Order: sequence, then C-alpha cells, then structure tokens
Amino acid sequence: MNKLIVGNLKMNLETVSQRDEYCLRTYEVFKKLSKENKNKIVFCPPIAHLDHFVHVVGKLPVEFGAQDCFWELHGSYTGNNSPKTISSLGGKYVILGHSEKREYNLENDENVMRKVLMALRTDLIPIVCVGYVENGGDEMENIKNQINLIADNLTAEEFSKIVFAYEPVWAIGSGKTPTIGEIHTVVLFIRNIVAKTYNQEVSSQIRILYGGSVSPDNVSDICHNTYVQGVLIGGASLNPEVFARLVQMLN
Ligand code: 13P
Repeated sequence: MNKLIVGNLKMNLETVSQRDEYCLRTYEVFKKLSKENKNKIVFCPPIAHLDHFVHVVGKLPVEFGAQDCFWELHGSYTGNNSPKTISSLGGKYVILGHSEKREYNLENDENVMRKVLMALRTDLIPIVCVGYVENGGDEMENIKNQINLIADNLTAEEFSKIVFAYEPVWAIGSGKTPTIGEIHTVVLFIRNIVAKTYNQEVSSQIRILYGGSVSPDNVSDICHNTYVQGVLIGGASLNPEVFARLVQMLN
C-alpha cells in the first residue's frame, strides 16, 4: 500500500502574503518530485485558504483537506463549516477530533462521531485522530471507546473508508516520539478492536497513520513496514522544503 502523507498546517499562514508565498514555494519544490513520488500527498490548510491552495498547488498530483467540519450540511450554525463546502472547494479529506480541537474547542467523542457520519455522507474521507488523554486518563481505553462509538453508528462499508491517525498528545510539537514498538502496539490494538467489531477484512482495509513530531529524520523508521501507512505532519509541513524532503524519504 502506498503511504498517505498529510500536512496539517493548523492555524498558520495567517496572512494572504504568507499563504501566497507558501503556495508558490510548495508548487516549485513539489513539482520537482512529482515524477518520482509514489505516495499520496494531502495538504490541509486553514479552510479560508483551501480554494487558493487548490488553484495553485492543485496543478500538481496532490490532494487537499480541511482541519474540521460541522455535523450538519447547512443552516444556522454560525462559525461552522459544512462538509459540503469543503468538498465543493476541492477538499477530499477532513481531519476530525484533533487533540487541539479537544483542548481548545471542547470537542468530544460524541461530536467527533457525528462529524464522521456527515463527512462520510458527503464523500469526504475522515482522518480521525485518536490518542487524546486528559490527566490520568488511559490512552488505550480512550481509543477503544472512541472507535466503538463511531463503529456503533456505521456499516462495515462506511467504516472501512475512515483513516485513523494515532497522535499521542505528548508527542505533538515536542520533538519526542514513541518507540516504533509502542506505535505498532497501538496500531495492532486498533486493528484488533475493528476486527472484533466488524471482521478481519475491514480491520486490514482501514488505513492507520502516525502523527506527532514526524520529521525527515524519523519518517523512514516510523513507516518502515506495513504497520503505519502514512503520517500526519504538523510543524515539518510548514516549510515546503522540509516537507518535500520528508516526502522524498518515503519514495
Ligand atoms: P507536529 O508534527 O508539529 O508534532 O504536529 C503533529 C500534529 O498535530 C499533526 O496533526
């Protein structure tokens, strides 16, 4: 399976000139590696920039997504974004349940589950983040509860379209990562839950990414075998040259 490499640009590139500079540099740098690249590359900019990214960077064989969506398609929901808007702007993916949304916007498992359902019904691919723990919480228990709540509401066919991203909170932006063995343990744990809830086929179909301090220096080790089928990148995606180097490491 090819790898899925997702850049979560978070709330950066906050001015039009920063956005324009990033897009032009990204276009130039990624154009050079388009031919040799065999993996999927996804950019998730702030939604206000999605249209511009699609027009400038979208001339290359890359895809786009958003960092969140609402659980309804339209109506009086001030400040929220419809999954339909994302898809009509050219987005194909949506990151849901990121720990920063949980921490600063009080996102919870119930909200994430509702967003996953609506994203799937709008043909967006949800990238569901797991691994959030509050002080003293049990990471594995949280992951299990979150996956079970989503699974309770989806058919096997719908569920198999989800991409999961294991992002331990302490690894985000810290320069620290779990050991490869620890990442594999969580990936296997997720696959076992899915196999028990659905079946082995669905369990092997879903894609599982790792996120948290991924850099060109550690990405090859993290993605070395088939356990981890891609990465969700924060900081390293903010510099187009570093992001491209990271992509190159996986070719
Ligand atoms: P960093 O790569 O900056 O640690 O961020 C990871 C992340 O939160 C991606 O969603």
